[in-house]
Amino acid sequence: MCGIVGYIGENDCKDIIIDGLKKLEYRGYDSSGVALIGDGEYVFKEKGRIVNMEQTVNRDIFASIGIGHTRWATHGRPSKINSHPHMSYDNRFILVHNGVIENEVYLRDTYLKGIDLVSETDTEILASLMSVLVKSSCCVKVGIMEFMKIVKGSYALALVDTLDNNRLYAIKNMSPMIIGVGDEFNMLGSDVSCMIKETNEFVPFEDMEFAVIGKDDFIIYDKEGVVVNRDSYISELNSDDIELGQYPHYMLKEIEEQSSVIRKILSEYYDDGFVVDNDLLSELENSDRINIIAAGTSYHAGIVGKKIIETMSNKPVDVHIASEFVYNTPVLSDNPFFIFITQSGETADSRACLKKINQLGYKSLTITNVAGSTLSREATYTLLLHAGPEIAVASTKAYTAQIAVLSILAFCISDYEIDLYKELSKVANTIDEVYSLKNKIKDYAESYLSDTRNCFYIGRGIDYYVAMEAALKLKEISYIQTEGFAAGELKHGTIALIEDNVPVLAIISSKDTNLNTRGNVKEVESRGANTLVISTKSVSNESDEIILNDVHPLLTALITVIPTQYISYYAALNRGLDIDKPRNLAKSVTVE
Ligand code: G6P
Repeated sequence: MCGIVGYIGENDCKDIIIDGLKKLEYRGYDSSGVALIGDGEYVFKEKGRIVNMEQTVNRDIFASIGIGHTRWATHGRPSKINSHPHMSYDNRFILVHNGVIENEVYLRDTYLKGIDLVSETDTEILASLMSVLVKSSCCVKVGIMEFMKIVKGSYALALVDTLDNNRLYAIKNMSPMIIGVGDEFNMLGSDVSCMIKETNEFVPFEDMEFAVIGKDDFIIYDKEGVVVNRDSYISELNSDDIELGQYPHYMLKEIEEQSSVIRKILSEYYDDGFVVDNDLLSELENSDRINIIAAGTSYHAGIVGKKIIETMSNKPVDVHIASEFVYNTPVLSDNPFFIFITQSGETADSRACLKKINQLGYKSLTITNVAGSTLSREATYTLLLHAGPEIAVASTKAYTAQIAVLSILAFCISDYEIDLYKELSKVANTIDEVYSLKNKIKDYAESYLSDTRNCFYIGRGIDYYVAMEAALKLKEISYIQTEGFAAGELKHGTIALIEDNVPVLAIISSKDTNLNTRGNVKEVESRGANTLVISTKSVSNESDEIILNDVHPLLTALITVIPTQYISYYAALNRGLDIDKPRNLAKSVTVE
């Protein structure tokens, strides 16, 4: 949710900042801006994509300090005037912000009386507030400490003092920010991807810390102004991993990486037997109930995970939507264990739950794609997805990776009879086979979805859980209103929405529910629905449109989801939509 890049060094940083912002565009893309400081101070901003802003940047400027921002609007609609950077009323400080300020009205009324603000943002208040506080302090450092005392809310801030061209400042609370360490330069960013072309050495911030950053060094302070010593780490991210290569869209690339991701997970977690931290396994085994907490697609992976864990281990599992759990916490069992599933490791809703869990003294595990991410640092244990960077806003490979890792975890705490290594290898091979169906699926997407306003996915059991994810994917990127429904529940009300030509896509992979779901397909057909069946071979009918090879019954989600991802992709492509950056969304949602 909003991306920040900063640079201070010897070289001209225009392109470094703009290229970095492009890597962060997944975090928000309604407007963007840069401040470039060298022989003067220049701010360029524009509504819309980064390329719009890039075209306005004066190429003749030399800037050795820069900060940039790509925005996902929270306070104030997307517009040039609301886009960051914002300047203080006296033009001294220039600031970019990711987060939401809770006491903006108080700050404005108390500290900024008589000062005219031009935008609708909370960020402009912060820029002017900084100037007011620094003026009444001995130095910028003390001004920042005052700032951190009175500002409430979430913020990652990069700040330039135009009176001092040798420093960049960064302040963090509840929004992600890391320092990139270079040779004769240093950087700041919302994540590693925006700096990886320049450096692979990083230092994370914790909440309520700030940093003073020069080109050769940096100092991190806590809110009392005490120096914090923190080791750097080397990121294994390869800058090629975040390139599009031959693919027209990241989403297509990521759909077609899923078989390799499953193989990578096997290579990371298997060494003559599955290897998972023994302390983690004991915690899970000793718990009386597992609580999975997640948002969006990760929540959908969680409900599949529940089925797998309960079937394999008999351990009860509850799955919670993070934004509900945090303020509407259910009664907990005597000895619960908590699993956070989060591709990014930064989702604010999930993080708020983890903070609560930590305060209550419970142990937790984060399953994430991003090593060193906030939820990974704050949970007791971490399991990585090893899916490689997921850039498209609509999540695909992280979902299958999450289910695969959950199946390994379930296996490790159970005596369930399954050769999981063999079954997951088979899944990877079967996914490879699904890729070859894509042209056929493309035609279905066109004939079923090119002019419909709404659509239904139905299924039972795991197929229902996949139907929910399939529906989310389709609505996210094609804007077709889609519901994932328990096939048997449709007749209890929602069937009223079925009329001529409404697409109803059924997922059938279980012999226990095959005939029931087929009965539901007939019911909607008799009311005019345009039906399509995705089935697995052993339960298929010859007339089914998409038939996939069989895998273990607990792992079917890993293959039935693939055609639904293609369907979403091609439906959006047919409609000429921006597949990797759908409207109103952001990939890393760091505000509640
Ligand atoms: C956003 C993304 C979704 C994602 C969800 C949870 O809404 O657009 O694709 O599933 O956040 O993200 P997480 O990183 O916690 O898995």
